[in-house]
Amino acid sequence: MLNWSELEKAVNECKKCELYKMRNNIVMGDGDKKADLLIISEAPGKQEDLTGKPFVGKSGLLLDKILASVDLKRDEIYLANIVKCRPPNNRNPKESERQLCLPYLRNQFALIKPKIIVCLGRVSAQTIIEPSFKITKQRGIWYERKNCLIIATYHPAALLRDSTKKRDVWEDFKNIKSKYDELKKTQL
Ligand code: URA
Ligand code: SF4
Repeated sequence: MLNWSELEKAVNECKKCELYKMRNNIVMGDGDKKADLLIISEAPGKQEDLTGKPFVGKSGLLLDKILASVDLKRDEIYLANIVKCRPPNNRNPKESERQLCLPYLRNQFALIKPKIIVCLGRVSAQTIIEPSFKITKQRGIWYERKNCLIIATYHPAALLRDSTKKRDVWEDFKNIKSKYDELKKTQL
């Protein structure tokens, strides 16, 4: 297992999949490196690739609103993606790319030791929870792996395409926040 600076260096130099060819910046993730809550999304988009930070584009603005609606702040959680380099034209990262990049996320998980993981969108849930994950049927359900609670909800980009999903996401985040508060209480 690598420490944070070794990990950052390894990802910066990574050429394991072809996504390295077009990247301007890797996007490791951002937030509290000791967070109890880890949000895992899919891949960097255009703005993320340009800045090296996760969720700084349109989806990021919406994510901020969702977090604020349940009184969660970016600086108390950690945000990461399945793949660290932007796929061309924001296509879904391929299965091979996800598997090649996953060890970095596993290393991040081992360093952060979160108690709750939130998967944003189908690609994340299928990679983290199970390959056959159906986001419309299985979102909002708690799973448990390695002493960590895991839940999936829609990706903010899906809400930008279909605003009828907003209510479900809000319900999911209320559920996440109450579990998070519960865990915080038992830690005191
Ligand atoms: N969408 C993602 O899945 N991740 C980001 O970091 C930004 C947008
Ligand atoms: Fe390496 Fe991941 Fe970037 Fe592929 S996406 S080059 S595996 S860091």
